[in-house]
Amino acid sequence: MAGHVNIAPASPTIARPLLEIDALRCHFGGLKALDGASFNVAAHGVTGLIGPNGAGKTTLFNCISGLLRKTSGSVHFDGIDITYARPDAISQFGLVRTFQLARGCVRMTVFEHLMLYGRDQRGETFFRGLLGGAEVHAQEQALRERSFETARGLKLSHVLDNLVTDLSGGQKKLLEIGRALMAEPKLILLDEPMAGVNPALVEQIGEHLNAIRAKGMTILLIEHEMALIEQLCDHVVVMAEGKFLTEGTFSQVTANAEVQEAYLGMTVQ
Ligand SMILES: Nc1ncnc2c1ncn2[C@@H]1O[C@H](COP(=O)(O)OP(=O)(O)OP(=O)(O)O)[C@@H](O)[C@H]1O
Ligand SMILES: [Mg+2]
Repeated sequence: MAGHVNIAPASPTIARPLLEIDALRCHFGGLKALDGASFNVAAHGVTGLIGPNGAGKTTLFNCISGLLRKTSGSVHFDGIDITYARPDAISQFGLVRTFQLARGCVRMTVFEHLMLYGRDQRGETFFRGLLGGAEVHAQEQALRERSFETARGLKLSHVLDNLVTDLSGGQKKLLEIGRALMAEPKLILLDEPMAGVNPALVEQIGEHLNAIRAKGMTILLIEHEMALIEQLCDHVVVMAEGKFLTEGTFSQVTANAEVQEAYLGMTVQ
């Protein structure tokens, strides 16, 4: 008699979300900027984060990236509890962010700026002293190449020797993306990278985001311009008054009556 071999049916593999935000609260005095926000971000692709002004989107980014203290709740990134991790540790885990208003008050050239963020990510400043001269030189050379390549990709090669403070607003936005890319992250948080830039640059930034997505990185994108959300995002999360409101495809969320209501009766399309 032939023996039986019992093979258990394969259980469907449920991929753990890359980012898990659970009941996050952040209060400024009496103001509940985040009031129990919970949602997940799946690995790969672009997730849009939308919501009216003051909904708590930037505060959420500040909490995720360790810049703001949470009142309660938790954040997990790639399975690691980063709720109380420091910003530099979080970026070393592979989670980086850009800022709504591109920063650039340091007296540093564009090239130095890119090199700095490439180094930061790998903790090279700490280990450099332990390595031999040839190895340090090879690493430095690789980092220089990567800085040139990143600048080329962002069409910033001609301003590599300029001070960051002398860049135009749009160039600062591009440099923010370059800074994030130098860190070779798994997840990039982008806070309105297209706000206040001319239409040609908006298109260029959109192409960069598509290229970043094609490399397998995950993007969480805050953006007010709905046409861009529709064009760039695979999935959309809506926040209002410090809370998660709904999520889905662009057409699903924009058809949602609560979303329309949150935008004070504006037609969201
Ligand atoms: N450092 C702070 N101190 C006090 N209140 C703050 C602080 N940062 C944000 N807030 C308040 O928290 C709320 C959420 O602000 P947040 O900047 O997160 O909104 P947002 O969704 O990013 O809005 P926008 O789309 O206009 O950028 C707002 O009411 C804001 O005034
Ligand atoms: Mg904001």
